[in-house]
Amino acid sequence: MRFLVTESLIAGFLLVSSTEAFNAQLGVTSLSPQTTTTSLQATKTDELAIQKAKLFKLLGTKPSTDNVLEDPVTKEPIEISASGALLGGDSRSRVPYTVKSASNSFKGSSDSFIDLLEPATEGENTSSSSSSSPLNDFLQRASPYVPVPLRGPLASLTDGEYIPMRDLFTSPAVSFAYERGWRQGFAQAGFPGPDIEAEMAMDYFAPVAAVAPGGFSKSVIVDMSCATGLFTRRFASTDRYGRVLGCDYSESMLTEARRRIKEQRSLAKLKTTKLDLVRLDVGQIPMRNESIDCLHAGAAMHCWPDLDSAFTEIYRVLKPGGRYFGTTFLSSYFATLSSMDGQGSNVPSQQAFQYFESVDSLEALVAKGGFDRSKIQIEVLGNACAVIRAEK
Ligand SMILES: C[S@@+](CC[C@H](N)C(=O)[O-])C[C@H]1O[C@@H](n2cnc3c(N)ncnc32)[C@H](O)[C@@H]1O
Repeated sequence: MRFLVTESLIAGFLLVSSTEAFNAQLGVTSLSPQTTTTSLQATKTDELAIQKAKLFKLLGTKPSTDNVLEDPVTKEPIEISASGALLGGDSRSRVPYTVKSASNSFKGSSDSFIDLLEPATEGENTSSSSSSSPLNDFLQRASPYVPVPLRGPLASLTDGEYIPMRDLFTSPAVSFAYERGWRQGFAQAGFPGPDIEAEMAMDYFAPVAAVAPGGFSKSVIVDMSCATGLFTRRFASTDRYGRVLGCDYSESMLTEARRRIKEQRSLAKLKTTKLDLVRLDVGQIPMRNESIDCLHAGAAMHCWPDLDSAFTEIYRVLKPGGRYFGTTFLSSYFATLSSMDGQGSNVPSQQAFQYFESVDSLEALVAKGGFDRSKIQIEVLGNACAVIRAEK
């Protein structure tokens, strides 16, 4: 079920992307604050938020059991607390979180993300590692900084397995380029663009994201494989969801997502929406059964290494009646790219993506996860953008 596109094509794509990068940057600035902060009242609110943040950095917070997130390995509930300077945390901008289940500890901080991909090893306080030797550890940590074509050979020197469709996105260069031209290129396949795609998703989610009496929404939305958070930010900018979880496998994508969230000042002042970034694998979602109302996965399914596990997990975490909205490429798009590249599909440095030949094969995949076929709708936009809507 895989289709291959050459590395050189990806590299070319990146070059084109960087030419467009600066134009696209203008697009990014259009995501900046929707409300102006010029009035006196807004200034006062800003000031209060700053004072609150300072207090939080000094005092920290009490441990509380998260009602959605769980230990990915043991499935135990997890407790999260923040340690302020008075409790031994960093007094400047970084507030470390203590993230624990009964059996394991995980890493996380206020200025990055909660890492629920795997438990932290003892004594570890930065990025995760399960390697068995210092050399192995070094090579695995260096991997994101290595040019994409060299990652496979590098991984062969370590315990880590290089999975191209997933690991391409762990590169800081790709994370940098993603909203600076790379994503805009999807229009060729028929993707209408993040603004319209976000509206389409939110329209589909509307019946399950009802706002409770009193004006507060309790619904939880997951932006699975959020990358730089282009949809996470759009979902959090509305007051339709009580909690928004931007989730991805790639540390560099989540770091860029956090940077962009910080840049969008209106998000820093969210009052009714809790916004978290979580590192995870969609094939082993660290969330409780039936805890999620809406799950969005934009342009992501072709990047997931284990599609059967992903859909079984998505079905598991959705509440009864919960909704999935995903977009992906039909294989005809990759075929066009491959023939443009002129190297066919058997070149050793090829980049693999999942291959969805038809709407029927997509429907079968989603149904295999547990969704009833009568509740799955798939439409195709343009040449090859498949839009999947499914209700549990
Ligand atoms: C093409 S990007 C899509 C980003 C964004 N949702 C959009 O609509 O543009 C695919 C994302 O899938 C993520 N990904 C790949 N494998 C994953 C996995 N096993 N679990 C979670 N995310 C994964 C990558 O890190 C990457 O950020």
